[in-house]
Amino acid sequence: MRRRGRCVWMGDDPPWLQCAEQSFGSGNLHGQDGAKAFGSGDRTQRDESLRAGIACSAPVFPKAMWKQMKPSSNSYIPALGYRWLTRFYDPVVRVTTREATFKERLLQQVSIQDGYRILDLGCGTGTLALLVKHAHRGAQVFGLDADPEALKLAKTKLKAGGIRVQLDQGLASALPYAGESFDRALSSLLFHHLSSELKLEAMREVLRVLRPGGEFHIADWGKPTGLAMRLAFVAVQLLDGFATTTDNVRGLLPDLLGLAGFEKVGTTNSYSTLLGTVSLYRACKPYA
Ligand SMILES: C[S@@+](CC[C@H](N)C(=O)[O-])C[C@H]1O[C@@H](n2cnc3c(N)ncnc32)[C@H](O)[C@@H]1O
Repeated sequence: MRRRGRCVWMGDDPPWLQCAEQSFGSGNLHGQDGAKAFGSGDRTQRDESLRAGIACSAPVFPKAMWKQMKPSSNSYIPALGYRWLTRFYDPVVRVTTREATFKERLLQQVSIQDGYRILDLGCGTGTLALLVKHAHRGAQVFGLDADPEALKLAKTKLKAGGIRVQLDQGLASALPYAGESFDRALSSLLFHHLSSELKLEAMREVLRVLRPGGEFHIADWGKPTGLAMRLAFVAVQLLDGFATTTDNVRGLLPDLLGLAGFEKVGTTNSYSTLLGTVSLYRACKPYA
């Protein structure tokens, strides 16, 4: 990923934020590999590393550990960065991200008919899948996530709401579904957990499983609407890592969707939240 030789002001981010991105390169601090490298309770070393990154020092990790932290195709970043925080995900997101507003809006921009097969990619604790199925009882809803812990919470929540959604464990970059088997795909707050490469792979996978003319609707952290939003987003970057969130903050998700092969790509809405700007995107799979 982007690693600059020097720490220079590039116009988009304050220089100290660019330094943090530069120092971390494409390292993944939290995925399965990262969790093994640090252990979920070992914050001290990680916090020191972050501070060092912000202070623009040379990479602070021994080479072996740095290698271990590189994102592998089967690692993932848990919902709140650390596995032990997943149980607190729902209340945290509800309070900090205007979740109800942007998820309802995302749902409104998707035209869903009875019989449609809908995929919620990176469904986490199942809130969006639940909203979709609640609003469209005639649709078949699938939720996919890499994290068994999040899926367990989703299962409990869906059961309590009397909602039937098929929950599958899997990776966004290797979907366990047949080609052209979905009418719509949705995704909320997943892509800032993926490296650039994995973002592209996941988008290509969605393209594969969508039928021609099918649509992909995304809500995720986007280009900040001002300095206050940019600074607020640092909290998310400290939790989820700079490497995977930088594309989001630079507003690159639409470019990546285009690169993956989608057409009619657009940003449909942006919301200011306590943790930064959440943007909504829409993209279509071409017919030919
Ligand atoms: C911030 S949570 C969002 C959950 C839910 N979509 C929402 O809006 O509340 C991100 C989710 O993406 C999942 N995830 C991260 N990397 C993934 C990958 N490579 N494949 C599938 N799921 C992944 C995490 O396990 C987590 O549940």
